[in-house]
Amino acid sequence: MKTKEIIVGISGSIAAYKAVEVVSCLTKVKARVSVIMTASATRFITPLTLQTISKNRVMVDLFDGPEEFNPVHISLTEKADLILICPATANIIAKLAAGIADDLLTCTVLASQCKVLICPAMNERMYKNKILQANIQKLKRMGYLFIGPGQGDLASGSRGKGRLAEIKTILKEVDKFLR
Ligand SMILES: Cc1cc2nc3c(=O)[nH]c(=O)nc-3n(C[C@H](O)[C@H](O)[C@H](O)COP(=O)(O)O)c2cc1C
Repeated sequence: MKTKEIIVGISGSIAAYKAVEVVSCLTKVKARVSVIMTASATRFITPLTLQTISKNRVMVDLFDGPEEFNPVHISLTEKADLILICPATANIIAKLAAGIADDLLTCTVLASQCKVLICPAMNERMYKNKILQANIQKLKRMGYLFIGPGQGDLASGSRGKGRLAEIKTILKEVDKFLR
């Protein structure tokens, strides 16, 4: 992978800490990674961690003053090769399926023209919820791509489907789309 522009969107799942490893690996393979976190994501991991790992400014607030005349969600998407949402909450999936653009991450996805890879992570009961499933199907029909979720131990202590896909699986998929 040679200096590709990747936007990594992190939403407020307990699996958010795993995004640090994903961003670290992507940065090491010479991708320029711009991290966008939802406000909820910052309750799980700090922007400072992601900023240090990505060697790039981490963005959270839609209304944070851009350095250029273009708003951040427009300027970022102009050069992005790929958007990876990792982890993706049930909430962010629902907002994308409904076309809601009420924060920096959803505005960025709506303004983008590149491929969007979504890595859901949630409790199995949330994952199996019919509304969530309908939202995933709707997004798939529109060309959004999904990685996982995986099966196994969940943060709640139970086992089932809903955990974030394995990091190596996510990186393999990202690599495929950037060739
Ligand atoms: C401890 C804790 C863990 C959570 N983990 C998840 C999760 O793994 N997946 C999920 O969809 N929501 C999870 N949530 C709920 C989301 O944080 C909540 O829906 C939030 O509004 C998501 O906001 P965002 O999509 O803007 O990041 C969790 C909440 C808490 C308090």
